[in-house]
Amino acid sequence: MSGSRGEDSYKGVGNQVKESVLSERLAFTGRIAASIAHEIRNPLGNVSIAAQQLKKAYSEDSPWSKHIEVIIRNTERINFLITELLNCARPPELNIRPHDMHGIIENVLDSIRSSLSTQWIKVIKKFDAKPSIINVDREHINRVFLNVVINSVEAMPKGGTLTISTSIEGDFFMVKIQDTGVGIPEEDIIKIFDPFFSTKSMGVGLGLSIVYGIVVSHGGKISVESIWKRGTIFTISLPTK
Ligand SMILES: Nc1ncnc2c1ncn2[C@@H]1O[C@H](COP(=O)(O)OP(=O)(O)OP(=O)(O)O)[C@@H](O)[C@H]1O
Ligand SMILES: [Mg+2]
Repeated sequence: MSGSRGEDSYKGVGNQVKESVLSERLAFTGRIAASIAHEIRNPLGNVSIAAQQLKKAYSEDSPWSKHIEVIIRNTERINFLITELLNCARPPELNIRPHDMHGIIENVLDSIRSSLSTQWIKVIKKFDAKPSIINVDREHINRVFLNVVINSVEAMPKGGTLTISTSIEGDFFMVKIQDTGVGIPEEDIIKIFDPFFSTKSMGVGLGLSIVYGIVVSHGGKISVESIWKRGTIFTISLPTK
């Protein structure tokens, strides 16, 4: 399903063979990630309890107290990362209700309105005229669009255009999120859904792993096409029935 735009062809993960390789790979990394996360939890809990006890034993002006704070802060950080990792490895519990998809997308855009304007990002909405009410978990689908849109915004540090198009194709509601950002090098395309793959200095690399888990648990699909230095399109399809 690699599309084309002008003379450049988008490099993408989308055709059937690549898609099944990707699903197997994700299922594998997901299982490994979940078992490692699980194994880390117990010893980490012991470190955390021990650090809390040391904190009680030393007064705040002790030379050791700042080291103890470092241990506590970092165990909290590791605990947060492990929880996020487990969230993307196991399918989330869904609270499925009928929701207006265009309403969810509008909410996501509203929540990042200020970064869109400070980064000079123009938004084009091409919404399907037909009703867009489908059964989804609102909070999780909100997270899907937010993560993908934030990635697009982060890919356009010098401004650009974010185009969000929706359509109904057969039994699927399709959302295309397209940016004119830095694009993804061909060799990275297969890695972007892996937990902890990030090319950003402050990135955790869990955004798209979480997105993938949520989309699949809704019976949907996600694919990506990109041209390095030109832009990227993420296509999310969710079943309408
Ligand atoms: N729209 C995009 N344009 C260019 N590269 C992208 C885009 N979306 C994702 N990527 C690439 O995929 C990588 C993984 O994305 P992902 O959202 O999982 O993690 P992240 O954004 O780096 O960190 P975070 O956990 O904070 O979301 C990014 O670091 C980036 O290299
Ligand atoms: Mg991200």
